[in-house]
Amino acid sequence: MMIYIGSDHGGFDLKESVKAHLEQCSIAFEDLGTFSDESCDYAIIAKKVADAVVKSENNLGLLFCGTGVGISIAANKVQGVRAACCSDCFSAKMTREHNNANILCLGGRVVGTGLANELVDLFLDSPFSNEDRHQRRIDQITQIEIR
Ligand code: RB5
Repeated sequence: MMIYIGSDHGGFDLKESVKAHLEQCSIAFEDLGTFSDESCDYAIIAKKVADAVVKSENNLGLLFCGTGVGISIAANKVQGVRAACCSDCFSAKMTREHNNANILCLGGRVVGTGLANELVDLFLDSPFSNEDRHQRRIDQITQIEIR
């Protein structure tokens, strides 16, 4: 399992802060950019992280932009991605347990650093429930994706 992370300029500071948190927790990750707060386009970074995440079922991703919304919309265009933009703890946990989300998207202009760390911890620590009804619903999403 590998954790891939990325941001545009709007999420850059929050990405750097979450990286420090992951390092402190000895959680391995690969940062696919951006590497400065210079303006850049979130769809490019979303595709990089999304392409890396879908290479293995066990991979997870963390994406950051100003709101978390644009970068989640872009990531969700890649087949196999289930990216969830969250700003509360319940959703960050449930999107793993019920939706088997493989990318968490956070807004650097929406959530503070402490909450972001909590959201990331919940997302990374919560397994998919594996219950039939949730798998059935995810399969229905996949059917829409591949039709
Ligand atoms: C960049 O200013 C901003 O639009 C972007 O980070 C993101 O919030 C888009 O959804």
